[in-house]
Amino acid sequence: MMVHKDFPSLHIVDHPLVQHKLTWLRRQDTPTVSFRALLKEIALLMGYEITRNVPLTEVEIETPLQKMRAPVLAGRKPAIVPILRAGIGMVDGLIELMPSARIGHIGLYRDPETKQPCEYYVNLPEPGGRLFILCDPMLATGNSAAHAVKVLIDNGVEEQNIRFLALVAAPEGVKVLTDAYPGIAIYTAALDEKLNEKAYIVPGLGDAGDRIFGTR
Ligand code: URA
Repeated sequence: MMVHKDFPSLHIVDHPLVQHKLTWLRRQDTPTVSFRALLKEIALLMGYEITRNVPLTEVEIETPLQKMRAPVLAGRKPAIVPILRAGIGMVDGLIELMPSARIGHIGLYRDPETKQPCEYYVNLPEPGGRLFILCDPMLATGNSAAHAVKVLIDNGVEEQNIRFLALVAAPEGVKVLTDAYPGIAIYTAALDEKLNEKAYIVPGLGDAGDRIFGTR
């Protein structure tokens, strides 16, 4: 994993397995069934990388041979929060990694007049110091990402406990999110070239929601 030179809070998960699987996700001839499976695998691998530095504490246990103090995860169970709809595609892989994680949901739509994101559904576990992994495969304009972070903060989540997990990011979106929330760590498998005039990431992989759910 490396920190991007232009964006100090952006981490690129450059693990070869992640990069290989992302290439298959990008291909237009990858069918829905493979797209889902690959996205799940990538989310699990990225989840492993982004939880590297979560704090541990020690508990006393007994092995068949003797007592010992052994490390366990400290604090409350982490929360996984997909931004609807495409974020759902990353949840299964993260749950496989952290089976007792709590799951929140943030549903956003774009107001046709103001063009600003508005939430239509928010359901979150109690913050209480836990880690929140906010996920959306495509960090494109950054507007919904920044809004979702605001929703978490407004609901009492501490900024230092939020990690944003994307699959592909555009520089425009990273800038919007980091300008608004410089303290939030962002993780992505790739930083692509730019957004096109329809706010799609190029080269990207198309519409992640449509590719996950087989719509359109
Ligand atoms: N959302 C997507 O699903 N794809 C993009 O390229 C941009 C936003």
